[in-house]
Amino acid sequence: MDHHHYRDGVLFCEDVSADTLAERFDTPLYVYSRATLTEHYQRMRQAFEPLDPLMCYSIKSCQNTHICRLLHELGSGFDVVSGGELHRALHVGASPARIVFAGVGKTDREINAGLDAGIGLFNIESESELDVIAGLAQARGTVASAALRVNPDVDPKTHQYTTTGKKETKFGVDLERAVAFFKHAAKLDSVNLRGIHLHIGSPIRDAGALADAIAKSLVLIDQLAADGLVVDTLDIGGGYGAYYGEDNGPTPADYAAPIIPLLKDRKLRVILEPGRSIAANAGILLTRVLHVKQSGERHFVIVDASMNELIRPALYDAYHFVWPVNAGEFTPPTRQMHQEFAGLQCCDVVGPVCESSDFLAKGRDLPPVKRGDLLAVFGAGAYAMTMASQYNSRPRPAEVLVEGQTPRVIRRRETYADLLAPEQIDPA
Ligand code: LLP
Repeated sequence: MDHHHYRDGVLFCEDVSADTLAERFDTPLYVYSRATLTEHYQRMRQAFEPLDPLMCYSIKSCQNTHICRLLHELGSGFDVVSGGELHRALHVGASPARIVFAGVGKTDREINAGLDAGIGLFNIESESELDVIAGLAQARGTVASAALRVNPDVDPKTHQYTTTGKKETKFGVDLERAVAFFKHAAKLDSVNLRGIHLHIGSPIRDAGALADAIAKSLVLIDQLAADGLVVDTLDIGGGYGAYYGEDNGPTPADYAAPIIPLLKDRKLRVILEPGRSIAANAGILLTRVLHVKQSGERHFVIVDASMNELIRPALYDAYHFVWPVNAGEFTPPTRQMHQEFAGLQCCDVVGPVCESSDFLAKGRDLPPVKRGDLLAVFGAGAYAMTMASQYNSRPRPAEVLVEGQTPRVIRRRETYADLLAPEQIDPA
């Protein structure tokens, strides 16, 4: 599952104890395991191997350049959704042909950056965007390679805020309008509309839902072919699950099983955009207990990490397994078997931010903890540091990448000077 494990009651990331990391780099601290990133990338790639897919790691899940560089070295391309992410992909040396660019609101500047780089695919999300891209490409005397993101109206059975493939979300174009869209695009010399793009949500809890969406897009591809409109690329997006310790979704192999038979004999270039399934389990967030206190019936563990560092519990009611770094007799045999112990106490693990939504875990049975203890929040590699903020003027934490016995800082802790630096006022 990952390379964060207990040895003699103490949590290690690969071969470095979490204690040592917290001492050396302070808390809150993001710690990533290089071996986990590598294995999870390879597991995704291998699950879909019969389709020889182009893997495009979804930068938004964990955007640190050193992690992007690792994925690039493993052979991945990139899924980007902004000019900033495109910049990161190019910065780590990605081949532009292996970059796909989605997003409902790409600005002209971002589109031009993609055109200038010569990216592999613009995943177009509206009729208006098609015309804008065509105009900008024509002005540059170039041809944009593109796919239409369709909305297949399939329910991924995930949180409503991360559902994208149901009708009446802002993403993609309804299937019923796709043929007209392609017919219009065929008249434009500066856009080569050659693909279909899907991304129905994240994480997709029902492997069959993704297969249903793909099946719908294959019907569309056949319909287009009958009209002489050729599609050679199917980008099936991301949304593959991770192991959070509760309510785990399907594995890479579970997702691949119903999809491979659908696509194996099709002469389509298949693209995957995994993010979470690669990054989530590679990361943990280390945080120190500041205080414990009782309020009415509730027992609060107040820690130095907050919704600033990890907003997923506040935003999506997301579950992250939280456990002491020095677990001793409470060392969990697996992350799902921690409730077996006697002597646990029901706690809310909360941060210092002035919001009641600032919690990392609610109503959780934990071993007794006291001020100064270290806790680890697991499954914190994806949509964690990338969604961090400086709310309450709290500098963002450092990130450390561990390889075997070697931890390396891949993003330094922000300082108070970093908080103020962009706030230079224009001279009067
Ligand atoms: N492709 C597109 C077009 C996407 O919008 C996304 C994620 C992905 C790929 C990657 O999906 P993944 O494989 O990571 O599931 N902040 C939320 C998740 C938002 C996902 C946004 N789109 C969370 O913390 O759960």
